[in-house]
Amino acid sequence: MTSHSLIPAPTKAVIFDAYGTLFDVHSAVSRHMAQVGPDAARFSEVWRTKQLEYSWVLSLAGRYEPFWTLTEQALDYAFARFPDVDRFLRPLLLDAYRTLDAYPEVRRTLQGLQSRGLRTGILSNGDPGMLNAAVSSASLSNDLDVVLSVDAVQIFKTSPRSYDLVLQALSVAASEVVFMSSNRWDIAGAAAFGFTPIWVNRLGLPDEYAELPPSSVIASLDELVMT
Ligand code: LAC
Repeated sequence: MTSHSLIPAPTKAVIFDAYGTLFDVHSAVSRHMAQVGPDAARFSEVWRTKQLEYSWVLSLAGRYEPFWTLTEQALDYAFARFPDVDRFLRPLLLDAYRTLDAYPEVRRTLQGLQSRGLRTGILSNGDPGMLNAAVSSASLSNDLDVVLSVDAVQIFKTSPRSYDLVLQALSVAASEVVFMSSNRWDIAGAAAFGFTPIWVNRLGLPDEYAELPPSSVIASLDELVMT
């Protein structure tokens, strides 16, 4: 597929989810794999799953805490679930989460989009402090026109109020925004809001949310700017 078939003609901005889409959330545990031990992959999965669950439960209950707080609480839950993992690792894993690896194709993708006259940005559940740390440690500041956090509206994705931040920040209509996420639940929220959602299905996961489908599915961001 070419970029022309993936990005509709009226598109003015391509907005990315951060965690899992631009940044590899499992790279924090991977960096300390040997010390975490044989449960490392499951430990990392529980950490991520709980972090997301807390965001949805708080939002439905009309509450809000910064995503960093939820990240710490989810890590503590993972330690409780895997008592053999040494709690000495807690500060090391949290440090690693603030400087996650960006996927290798991220920089060239953002630059490719900008060179076509498209605006680029992040819309993330991450709070501004953790987003700024991740963007600057991956040296992506110059490649992003906006870095938006749901912290501004104090409710997590998939609330329409969170996606609306993009329209306010860039003065665009939803139909002029392509929204990229590796998280299928986020694609469902973006579809409901009226963005053109493209699912980055890196792991070849089964589809879900059949009523809120992506407009395209790609395996790597490179497919977005291929010609
Ligand atoms: C993000 C996470 C939740 O919004 O993937 O960046």
